[in-house]
Amino acid sequence: MRQKTPSLHICQAGFEPFLAKEAGSTLAKGPGWVLAEDDQSELCFAHLSILKPIELKAATVNALAGGVADYFLRTSVDERYETPWPLYFEAAAVEGLKARCRSVEDAFHGRVSRMARVIKLAQNGRPEIGERRGLFVYLTDFGRAFAARRARAGGQRRMADDPQAPSRSFLKVEEAYGVLGEAPQPGQTVADLGAAPGGWSYSAAKRGARVLAVDNGPLKGGASGNPSIKHAEQDAFKFQPRPPVDWLFCDLLDEPHKVLELLRLWVEGRWCSRFIVNLKFGRHDPLLLLREVFSERTGIAQRCAILRARHLFHDREELTLAGRLRAHEVV
Ligand SMILES: C[S@@+](CC[C@H](N)C(=O)[O-])C[C@H]1O[C@@H](n2cnc3c(N)ncnc32)[C@H](O)[C@@H]1O
Repeated sequence: MRQKTPSLHICQAGFEPFLAKEAGSTLAKGPGWVLAEDDQSELCFAHLSILKPIELKAATVNALAGGVADYFLRTSVDERYETPWPLYFEAAAVEGLKARCRSVEDAFHGRVSRMARVIKLAQNGRPEIGERRGLFVYLTDFGRAFAARRARAGGQRRMADDPQAPSRSFLKVEEAYGVLGEAPQPGQTVADLGAAPGGWSYSAAKRGARVLAVDNGPLKGGASGNPSIKHAEQDAFKFQPRPPVDWLFCDLLDEPHKVLELLRLWVEGRWCSRFIVNLKFGRHDPLLLLREVFSERTGIAQRCAILRARHLFHDREELTLAGRLRAHEVV
């Protein structure tokens, strides 16, 4: 039987067991990474999948950097660099390894200095969502790195905070826009279920949208008294927007299957055209929950032009669904 080439999937440290289960056929794993056979599908727990990497082993920073540089030069022979390209160096969640990774990156730059024009076009950090060509390097330990020219990015990234945002949750919805590929626009309407203290509402209002914040709790910070945010003190499970809204935001602290059922209702009723929904999986198996999300029973995926499930950079024991309904499903 032909052996498939593995890929190195990167996740938030501590969530490797879920990623390994999701990826299947795991060959190895460590803090923040899983090496598994690649089946070309998007993984909720993978922030980045480094596709078909080569494995480099070397005892010193210089030798490791040399291996990466040789690989880069070798695979650049027929390459034309005209536009910005992603250059990504990252390390497993092992004490001291991030510093070593920076040293390897510095030494790499020293070795490819004759390609100054090419390196000038490099964009550091996590690439935008989707499959990209660039150079992706990941240190799993002090003497071992994986390097590849292609990677699939899930869209997760660290977001910048806003001092007026009333909660850290603000960062999640900001991150989810990148996963969906769009954000609320001026004049659009948003229903925010489980809105308090108002981080998500504040984020939409900041972009010029009009928000109905549904929660019995109080709004705070930049959401409190915000002229673009109306507060409705009522039960989110009994709320129906009239007329339908452009966006459903839902960050309810409740049992995830109950929240998923609420989303099913909204999608089936066409009460929104886009949604960002957070499911707090807590002690529930997130893989079973994911299966449910994409199942025919809920019918959500069938009604969506885009449906992405991600364990965000800013998520904890929760996952985030970002979706847009099909055109004929949009009201
Ligand atoms: C994690 S917090 C939401 C944080 C919010 N997204 C933010 O950015 O600040 C969860 C909220 O869900 C609300 N909640 C839970 N059950 C609810 C229900 N049935 N109806 C309305 N709000 C509810 C809680 O009052 C709480 O404020």
